[in-house]
Amino acid sequence: MSPIQLFDSASCTYTYILFDKDSLEAVIIDPVDEQLQRDLQVLRDHRLKLVWALETHAHADHVTSAGLLAEHAGARTAAPEACHIGTAAVQLSDGQTLAFGAQTLRCLHTPGHTAGSMSYFWQTESGGHVFTGDTLLIHGCGRTDFQSGSPEALYHSLTQVLFRLPANTTVWPGHDYQGNTHSTIGQEMQTNARVAGKSLAQFVETMNNLNLPKPKRIDEAVPANLTSGLRHDAGGDAPMQVRPAQGYAGDVSPQLAWAWVQAGEAVLVDVRTDAERAWVGFVPGAQALAWKQWPGMAMNPEFDAGIQKLGEGGKKLVLLCRSGVRSVAAAQRATDLGVAAYNILEGFEGDPDSNAQRGKLGGWRHHGLPWQQN
Ligand SMILES: [Fe+2]
Repeated sequence: MSPIQLFDSASCTYTYILFDKDSLEAVIIDPVDEQLQRDLQVLRDHRLKLVWALETHAHADHVTSAGLLAEHAGARTAAPEACHIGTAAVQLSDGQTLAFGAQTLRCLHTPGHTAGSMSYFWQTESGGHVFTGDTLLIHGCGRTDFQSGSPEALYHSLTQVLFRLPANTTVWPGHDYQGNTHSTIGQEMQTNARVAGKSLAQFVETMNNLNLPKPKRIDEAVPANLTSGLRHDAGGDAPMQVRPAQGYAGDVSPQLAWAWVQAGEAVLVDVRTDAERAWVGFVPGAQALAWKQWPGMAMNPEFDAGIQKLGEGGKKLVLLCRSGVRSVAAAQRATDLGVAAYNILEGFEGDPDSNAQRGKLGGWRHHGLPWQQN
């Protein structure tokens, strides 16, 4: 068995579809959003049931279609845990396995291109296959100069993880810019221009002096890929920008707020009542600081001291309420107290639709961001 290899010429990205020939359960690795229809057609042509949509890392050069494939094909999304793709249903750790039919993929944490990057190993009757993302490319490797990259970590991943696989393992890279399709571990150990026969010091020296231009789509792609490619924005990247506001730091979309929290730049503050968090749901890791409290929606006398304390950490505060009304008042109060605070538009549940059903029109939950219920 070999994987089906698909190519996106705009980003030179390889996408792979692997399947179990008896059950026809399939996995897709690194799908590209512009190629959604092509990929769905391939699945139909082979009568495959897509069970997993997988990422090797949070890509900087294209947007994933994992979230869309989950909706269209019923796949579950999975991504390396250290990539902080909060919308992925399964957060993968080193050594973990994923099953599709009678087949198994094994996760190999191979940091370096990004801190979270993973490779996936598939043993078939006819041989081993490894899907290396941007960790190992044919005759090359991914860059290490942005997105938590590290040449030292990459050298270790190449020489101590991937090069310890059997030499006849087929290498399926995440990209190729010269028309190569696959290689083997043995071949890369002998001829890879970046790493074969190189010491750690030589490798680091090379990687630190590549002087590559910034990827064209990084500012758009990375935030979108942190939510499995689900953007809910007809107009491009507008949801990832701060909108100016009167009396506080600004309005932000739930997606931007979450991207900041994931990047460690902001603290999420839930200003709803204790009752709302308990009954409706809450965001794991958010700080609870009610603006008003049930019953009677009386002002919370602890709010001022609480928000000042949260502001002392030096991070931006992003304030979440039910539909983005109380969080404006709370952000204005925080600003009066000298704390930089942003309002999250649409809140946790969004505005009510004509049937007064929240969560149908917008808001944190509507955008597929993480939340839980007691
Ligand atoms: Fe990459």
